[in-house]
Amino acid sequence: MRKEMLRTEDVKKHFGSVRAVDGVSIGVKEGEIVSLVGPNGAGKTTLLNLISGLLKPDSGRVYFMGEDVTGMRPSQLVRKGMARCFQISNVFEDLTVLENLLAAVHSIEGWISPVRRYDDDEAVERAMAVLKEFNLHEKAHLTPKELSHGDRKLLDVAIAYALNPKMILLDEPTAAMSVGEKRTTVRVIKKLRDQLGVTVLLVEHDLDVVYEVSDRIIVMHQGTVLAEGRPEEVREDPKVKEVYLG
Ligand SMILES: Nc1ncnc2c1ncn2[C@@H]1O[C@H](COP(=O)(O)OP(=O)(O)OP(=O)(O)O)[C@@H](O)[C@H]1O
Ligand SMILES: [Mg+2]
Repeated sequence: MRKEMLRTEDVKKHFGSVRAVDGVSIGVKEGEIVSLVGPNGAGKTTLLNLISGLLKPDSGRVYFMGEDVTGMRPSQLVRKGMARCFQISNVFEDLTVLENLLAAVHSIEGWISPVRRYDDDEAVERAMAVLKEFNLHEKAHLTPKELSHGDRKLLDVAIAYALNPKMILLDEPTAAMSVGEKRTTVRVIKKLRDQLGVTVLLVEHDLDVVYEVSDRIIVMHQGTVLAEGRPEEVREDPKVKEVYLG
């Protein structure tokens, strides 16, 4: 049996009367690609925030690689091997693609002034190697504004990968992408797992993408887990059909 990489136990987060996450227990095994789906407002982003330390749960626990990491800050979790991409892109607009990568590479080293350290050949080499994995190396000297929407989203993933994670959390990586860009993203998600050895938990609305990449799908609705299983199981689940059609 493969090791469990992530587990949440009955986590809750309420915002006033809104039960955004209302007792969620999920697990992700090492080497899995797991998708979190569900209608708008189901609590998917809030759950990712609870896992990645952006929010503290009102109750419940979060375990990463067997360790109780509940309430730890995102920076601590990054050092333990959990990296995160956001629904809204998180790049530095005034830096080039390469500089964005360097900032990430340097931040994991714990350097205080991360930006514009071109003197460090090793960091540049590492950053360029990461860019090459995501086919962004020829765009290293552009700013994010000069990239296509698809390449900007890929840059987010590259930045997360530059942090040397064991697990990456992605929030709607294909949002607003063209069909071709989605295809590239599907390849990148599979590559993260198959070639780069990263476990992936993603939130995604495009069910074609979800069915193609996922080993397992978790369906959320109104802050709770409605269904969970392999793609073919979830696709046929009447509860899931009802939520998506109704
Ligand atoms: N900081 C907050 N303050 C108050 N309410 C919030 C906050 N964050 C989320 N919510 C509410 O919690 C619920 C879950 O939101 P969340 O963003 O987790 O949903 P989601 O599944 O990611 O939706 P989407 O698919 O639209 O991104 C929603 O009703 C939302 O309005
Ligand atoms: Mg969301």
